[in-house]
Amino acid sequence: MNDFIFHNPDKVYFGKNQIQHLPEELSKFGNKVLLVYGGGSIKKSGLYDTVTKLIKDAGMEMFELSGVEPNPRHTTANKGVAICKENNIDVILAVGGGSTIDCSKGIAAGAKYDGDMWDLVVNGVWVTDALPIVAVLTNAATGSEMDAWAVISNMDINQKIGLGGDALIPKVAFENPEYSFTLSAYQTACGAFDIFNHVLDNYYLAGDSTFDLILEFQEAVMRAVVKWTPIAIKEPNNYEARANLMWASSMALNTVLDAGTVHNCPCHLMEHELSAYYDITHGHGLAIITPRWLTYILNEKTAPAIYRLGVKVFDIDNGLDAMVGAENTIKAVENFAFNVLGLKKNLSELNVDDKYFDDMATHATIHGDIVGLRTLNKNDVKKIYEMCK
Ligand code: NZQ
Ligand code: ZN
Repeated sequence: MNDFIFHNPDKVYFGKNQIQHLPEELSKFGNKVLLVYGGGSIKKSGLYDTVTKLIKDAGMEMFELSGVEPNPRHTTANKGVAICKENNIDVILAVGGGSTIDCSKGIAAGAKYDGDMWDLVVNGVWVTDALPIVAVLTNAATGSEMDAWAVISNMDINQKIGLGGDALIPKVAFENPEYSFTLSAYQTACGAFDIFNHVLDNYYLAGDSTFDLILEFQEAVMRAVVKWTPIAIKEPNNYEARANLMWASSMALNTVLDAGTVHNCPCHLMEHELSAYYDITHGHGLAIITPRWLTYILNEKTAPAIYRLGVKVFDIDNGLDAMVGAENTIKAVENFAFNVLGLKKNLSELNVDDKYFDDMATHATIHGDIVGLRTLNKNDVKKIYEMCK
């Protein structure tokens, strides 16, 4: 296992009766709040009314940026930056899913930068100065509520890139599983697969020796997703199911599960290209790629790790030959994605053709070969896209 530093300063209020702490937390940063949200789900659910009343009753001054897109655009982040600069905003309040929180992170960084915030993204700047962010989470998926990353898209040039920095970790996050009751079955499924893959993408990568405690933690998070997602889909108001998924979302990327491991994310690097070119839902792209990636990387060396996933997460018999066990594991992942979650299996069903596979493979490997259970070069990535057609 590798040496590691663990430091996550995000304060999380988890549960049903926590939102009343919002004004006291916001006011620690000042009086002027920029409320950021998406296409309107928080208005339908009533969360918008709850939050704005708390802010107004506390005598704070509120500004708004609405309409953050799934796969948030740099242009929208720049609009938020302008509001912050014109009005000397003290704190950004993101209310929504990963896209809203990511866009808020882009705004928070851009507010401290003189120029187009896309410069920060494309130049890979590690953000150390940003406005403080408070997040109210409505979708269990990305982990943005507790992590240091934002993924921002520039659709003019088909680029979707991560912007990272210590300063982007929300200062406070409110996680009430009830806020996710209104999610559609489709978004629940996509979010769940995203969580599952955040863990799987970094599974068994503990340097030159394994770190059993972390493997067990990772497996517990993946097991929770496999167990509770079908329940959340059938019973959207099931608090226990939503709570398990919400905390799994935060645990998957708040670096607890990275301890002593290598964090690289092969499926994520491949999926971000699909969303950059075709604006598809992130978790769905991952569901299509993941079983193909597992199939592609399966060999004598990787079989034991893949088989362990099957035994620990999908209850596959532990007395099999490693190769047979690994093949059964891949079938179990496929069954989870396409039968249990009901997601479409092929890129063609999402209107994705093979026109850009070569460009996407080039971008996905732009920083070099992708390290993982098996290292992937550009040609490997292209072959995996072909398998997803
Ligand atoms: O925009 P609104 O109206 O809010 O509707 C959203 C959106 O249409 C809706 N939704 C969210 N919460 C809801 C709800 N609808 C009803 N009830 C609720 N409670 O769901 C749709 C999708 O929302 P979005 O925020 O786009 O989904 P998600 O949370 O999956 O975020 C996806 C984005 O995060 C990035 C993805 O690439 C994608 O751009 N990621 C961010 C990461 C990070 N910051 O670390 C890591 C991830 O791997 C990922 O790349
Ligand atoms: Zn993801």
